[in-house]
Amino acid sequence: MLFEKTEVQLVSNAIMNMLHEEEMEIVNNFHDAVIAKDIDMISELFEVLLFDVEDHFSTEEDMMEESGFYAAQIHKAEHDSMRKKVKELYENWGKNKDPEVVKAFLEGEFKHWMVLHVARWDAETAMHLGDTM
Ligand SMILES: [Fe+2]
Ligand SMILES: [Fe+2]
Repeated sequence: MLFEKTEVQLVSNAIMNMLHEEEMEIVNNFHDAVIAKDIDMISELFEVLLFDVEDHFSTEEDMMEESGFYAAQIHKAEHDSMRKKVKELYENWGKNKDPEVVKAFLEGEFKHWMVLHVARWDAETAMHLGDTM
């Protein structure tokens, strides 16, 4: 398990909390496969993760755009940098199939990024959105 339920804070928008909860579950399953070094399962769940990350980020971006959030571009730029890293990791996985590389990314950069990103950008965006969307 990579994320305990309470590690990613709740924000003041129900849709965003749902997106985060879903993502933590998918990432935890993915991390389990990485720990087990189950190559086929990692390949399969990597695709699920890519799809989910895109769904998470683009849903937030759509909500920010609709509501005219003042820092939408900065928040989106943060998503873009993580999109790029996840894509690079996926390309690396395709070539090397090395679970250790994926494990290091998940437990280091990805986990820290997610906790801080939600605390900084998602929390503020959610405050702006409220629970109306
Ligand atoms: Fe988020
Ligand atoms: Fe976000």
